[in-house]
Amino acid sequence: MSQTLGHASPETTLPDGTLELDGRSLSVVLDGRPRRFHYVWLRDNSWAADDRVRQSGERKLFTASIPPDIAPTVASWAPERGLEVLWNDGQAATYSPAWLRRYDYSPAARADRRRTVTLWSETAGEPPRFPHAEVVAGREGQLAYLDAVREFGAAVVTDVPSEHHEVERFARTIGHIREVAFERVHNVRHDPAGYNVAHTPGELKPHTDMPSYNWPPSIQLLHFLTNQATGGESTLVDGWAALAELRRDAPHHFDVLTRVAVPFQLFSDDEDTWAENPMVQLDTDGEVRLFRFSNQLAQPLSAPFDQVEKFYDAYRHLGQIIDSGRYRATFKSADGDLLTVHSHRVLHGRMPYDPTSGARHLQDVYMEFDDLMARRRVLRGEHKPIPAQPQERS
Ligand SMILES: [Fe+2]
Repeated sequence: MSQTLGHASPETTLPDGTLELDGRSLSVVLDGRPRRFHYVWLRDNSWAADDRVRQSGERKLFTASIPPDIAPTVASWAPERGLEVLWNDGQAATYSPAWLRRYDYSPAARADRRRTVTLWSETAGEPPRFPHAEVVAGREGQLAYLDAVREFGAAVVTDVPSEHHEVERFARTIGHIREVAFERVHNVRHDPAGYNVAHTPGELKPHTDMPSYNWPPSIQLLHFLTNQATGGESTLVDGWAALAELRRDAPHHFDVLTRVAVPFQLFSDDEDTWAENPMVQLDTDGEVRLFRFSNQLAQPLSAPFDQVEKFYDAYRHLGQIIDSGRYRATFKSADGDLLTVHSHRVLHGRMPYDPTSGARHLQDVYMEFDDLMARRRVLRGEHKPIPAQPQERS
């Protein structure tokens, strides 16, 4: 490893492969930096032939069979092969340098791997646009589009053929449709008998769809077959940016929304969806993972008596942020535009329109963000695990 002037002096830089063992873990220097691994973790993740299914990389070793006093009998470092361990249960295993780097769980390595996104500014512009031909035809075009969905939570695909169910064909090029109640492909147009406020010509405040599922669909594709009516501009709000403001200015309000469950329901004559969850769900690092917000579908709150007014204070504050115009993009979608929304993050809505002024018809389907991100990893060649050691031939 090259030394940079002004950094650690040669005498403080340990050579790669320097090992230190204690009772429960070992430390190995890689790229000049010590990295610690627990014995039980290393033993569990062995790629020895006895421990893995050769063709798939799946674990054969039954984790619960690893004794609590697992420890190396011998541990050494070979420059090319990496860490070589003979375990006290008799198994020999090798852990390559590339594998140790990839799965290092030190705080610095975990921080490097953590997904971060760009929250929208208070004066958000329109989402990035990608020509349909480029997204469906090639790796680079599709990756650019998927990167935008990942980073900004929204993207527009332009010049999509205005053909019935084209949205379904497009969905198949990037993942799988999420089936839900009502229709596989939803038609949004003026319909006095429709089951949802979307079928009226009125304003739709920004919202997320289907909060009435315990796991709402996390991607929504909205394909404008035609949008010739006056008005009806699309609105998108970065819900995670709105929540970041709430958390910064009123952490007690943010906290209430992570704890108090809200019932949501959407039904028709033949179908019903109903679920009760906090509007804000966090991951294990305390970051927002899932946001559900639908003023129209919220049902009577059933919360402990002392929480009800606290909830309304927090909900009012959040609603005012969402309705403020901050973190909001407002734009007229054209015929053939296909809007992609990461709907655990970004809220969608529309301004009122005049149904007598021209046709407005869009078709939408749901998908899962996981599947789009899986597609991205496959296109980037990142989805297969790194074996810790070469598979031996039988
Ligand atoms: Fe909607």
